[in-house]
Amino acid sequence: MAERKASRTAVLVCQGRAVADGRLAVGRFADPIALELLTDSERELVSTVRSGEIPSALGPRMEFELLAGTSEILAARTVTIDDAVRDRGNPQVVILGAGLDARAWRMQELAGAAVFEVDQPASQGEKRERLGERAVLAGAIHFVAVDFAVDSLGDALAAAGHDATVPTTWIWEGVVPYLTPAQVAATTAVVGARSAAGSRLILTYSTTSRLNALGRRAIQQILTLTGRDNPMANEPFRSSWSPERLRKMLRESAFDVTMDAGLIDVARDLDIPPSRFLGSGRIAVADVS
Ligand SMILES: C[S@@+](CC[C@H](N)C(=O)[O-])C[C@H]1O[C@@H](n2cnc3c(N)ncnc32)[C@H](O)[C@@H]1O
Repeated sequence: MAERKASRTAVLVCQGRAVADGRLAVGRFADPIALELLTDSERELVSTVRSGEIPSALGPRMEFELLAGTSEILAARTVTIDDAVRDRGNPQVVILGAGLDARAWRMQELAGAAVFEVDQPASQGEKRERLGERAVLAGAIHFVAVDFAVDSLGDALAAAGHDATVPTTWIWEGVVPYLTPAQVAATTAVVGARSAAGSRLILTYSTTSRLNALGRRAIQQILTLTGRDNPMANEPFRSSWSPERLRKMLRESAFDVTMDAGLIDVARDLDIPPSRFLGSGRIAVADVS
């Protein structure tokens, strides 16, 4: 199997948080570290979108629209996830497919928690370079290199010191669509087996939407045809779930869904202006009693 490259969608969503910081859901959302984790060239597009000046040429305009839409999704889902993490206050937090997530470096509430960041090796290696010597706010940080499609998540977490007898909050943000249904189910089974009573799983997922799939394809084609960078080029969508199917799959691992909402509704509640990109994304919280 060819060695996987560091995730570009992780950079896109980090740019989305950098665009949203101080502009969307102000008072509820803040991620000042996102900008610091980006390279100079990645920051250029962030500045353009923050300026609000829409480019006239097709390629740059598509890049602008994609990032503007992403920033709305990111603000909505980040607020909901942060609230769900705080509300549970568990002593362990595992971030599955962590990308450039900065929670361990920005959330004071994690000072008493051990955070385990799980990601495929190339993405994690690149993140660690971007972080440099930055001081962590979490009680402890453990980097766990795992490809969900290849490696044993359970063994890797156990080796890193994750304690399956202590409650854990699991964050699975923006990752499920990139895994096959079988990989999602297998990972959920491991998560369930390592979740003591009081554990919580917070995840985002996509429902099946032909319109959204067509939109995604059109955006990528325009980016490619106009010679722009396509951040989704090597990371195809591999699964979508109905709320009912997801609920059933989580129930098999002892998780009861306590919240499941469309991101478009979450965004509306936060006064984030609606965008066509919010379409089929949902967020769910599920607990082990
Ligand atoms: C869109 S990014 C989301 C990153 C982060 N959760 C966030 O919201 O900022 C998708 C992440 O999933 C990770 N990922 C995708 N497939 C994976 C796999 N098979 N094993 C481990 N990580 C994977 C990528 O490396 C990337 O960091």
